[in-house]
Parts: sequence; structure tokens; C-alpha cells
Amino acid sequence: MPPRVVVTRRLPPTSQAALEKLDADIYQWQEDCAMPRETLLKEVKGAQGILCMLTDKVDDELLDSAGQQLKVVSTMSVGYDHVDMEAIKKRKLPLGYTPDVLTDATADLTALLTLSAARRIKESIDAVRNGEWREWRPNWLCGSQFTQKTLGVVGLGRIGEAVAHRLKAFGISQVLYSGRSEKPEASKRLQAQFVSFDELLAKSDYVIVCCALTKETKEMFNYDAFKKMKRSAVFVNSARGGIVQQDDLVRALEDDLIAAAGLDVTTPEPLPTTSKLLQLPNCIVVPHIGSATLETRDQMGLMAVKNLEAGIQDKALPTSVL
Ligand code: GLV
Ligand code: GLV
Repeated sequence: MPPRVVVTRRLPPTSQAALEKLDADIYQWQEDCAMPRETLLKEVKGAQGILCMLTDKVDDELLDSAGQQLKVVSTMSVGYDHVDMEAIKKRKLPLGYTPDVLTDATADLTALLTLSAARRIKESIDAVRNGEWREWRPNWLCGSQFTQKTLGVVGLGRIGEAVAHRLKAFGISQVLYSGRSEKPEASKRLQAQFVSFDELLAKSDYVIVCCALTKETKEMFNYDAFKKMKRSAVFVNSARGGIVQQDDLVRALEDDLIAAAGLDVTTPEPLPTTSKLLQLPNCIVVPHIGSATLETRDQMGLMAVKNLEAGIQDKALPTSVL
């Protein structure tokens, strides 16, 4: 009997086709909404493989529901904070993920958010729509430039490096970074300097968050952190909403502790339309679309299918966290 696999969403076209060719008994959630938890818990029973999204929580409850025969969990994401790693480790399960293929798309979007927040694009678009555009005015909607400015990258991984590379093309003259450890190779390529979190906050004109959400990074951007930043600084987060104490970010923007913010991730997601963040003219929010290009999503889907396939065949996963 072919092994049962559970896939929590329809995949992008190329990877959906690859999935359908697997020699497996595939249960796939077909609706364009997240798979309800109860359905997932029920359907994973007896499965050898699970292909999930970052919106599916993988924990003891889910893995127990699946049962001992489960061989692999494959997430179609680079982040895996939705996966309880202790639960995975104690069952000695491999966890597949999708690094690298989304670096460029996510870096593009992060750079775009940085530029958009710096140049007050949300206010500008609103002004045109609202009829506030009366004439060209020398002091109107002036934002900040990149030439000769300092960029601070919190977490200089693949995505952080790719964003810095892009923003250097706009004139950034100094790159600072903070994180758990020094990254000699990336530092050399960017001529970047490893500094403490506090020094990065104090010296950067642009602060971008590119680290994973962990116990250490959870809510590291609180009111105190925003207070340490320049009042002219632009803050951008395309990593995970949980890295920011969101009420503190609202206060920081209201109190003019920083100039503007650009967010691709929030707490919760989706962000309620009543959120104060959406009322602030200097805060741009987009709906977690960092990796959302046709090319990247197809590659992520393909990687996730390959990891799933290898797992159910007892082979080493092409790209695994563990
Ligand atoms: C996106 O946020 C991902 O983790 O892939
Ligand atoms: C702007 O449009 C200028 O001509 O300076």
C-alpha cells in the first residue's frame, strides 16, 4: 500500500504537479484557507509524511495524533518557529524546510519596504487619492535618503546579507550587524561591522530585522530598544512579528521615537483591520508576502515535495533542519 501523506494546502502549479506524481496516498486540503486544526489532527492519523505551511502548528499533539509510523515533516517555509523542535527531536524525525530559494524574493521585498517607509509612500499615495496634492511643495512629503547612511542588520544570515547588498546600491556607506555570532565571510563581502545590539540601535539610520524568532529574539524590539534608536530612523521587519513588542512599536511611532516603520510580519497574522498600526501614516504593513513571487513559491513547493518524498522513502532529506 502506498504511504499516506497529508498536505495542508494546494501548492503552486509546478510543485502541485510534482506532488501528484508521488507514489503516495495523498490527503490534501483543497480549500483556500488554512486547514482546520481538528481536521488536521484527524487526517494525520497513520500518515508517514506531513507537508505543512508556516500557519500549521507542529507540536506533540499533532505528532501524537499522527502516530509512530510518521517518518517526516516537511514545511514549505524557511522559518520553523511554528514547529516545536523538542517534539521533533525526541521522536528523531527529520524536518525539511526551504532555505536559499526565497532569499532574493524576501530581500527584494525587505528593501522595497525600507525604501517605501523612508520615502513615505503610503502618505504619498493617500495624498494623491485624497486630493491633498495641490501643487509641488518644497517641504512636502520629504523622507530620507540612503546616500552616506548607516544600515543596521539584526541577524546577518542569507536574507540579511542580500538586503544589505541591495541597499548598498542605493548609497548606504556603512553596514553594522548584530546577532548571536560574528559572520566573518559575510562581513568581509559587505565590509560590515559586528556590533552590540545597543550600538546598532544607536548608530543606524535604517534598522532591519532578518533574524529567526527564538526565545532570545522574542520581543527584543520593545519600547526601550526603540528609545535607543535615532529619531530619524526607519525600522523594517520582514522576519517574524513576535520579534517585536507590537504595542511598544505603536507607542514608539506615536511618540516619534522613530520616523517610520515597514512591516511584512505582525502579531497576530492576519492583523485585525482595527489595529492602530494601520492608522499611523508612517507605518506600512503588507501581508507576509516576502517570498511571494511566482518563481520562488514554485521552488519552495518543489523543495518541500522533494523533502517529503525523501522522508517517506527513508532517504536523507535534500534540505533539512535536522
Ligand atoms: C516565510 O516567512 C518563511 O519562513 O518561509
Ligand atoms: C522636481 O520635479 C524638480 O524638477 O526639481
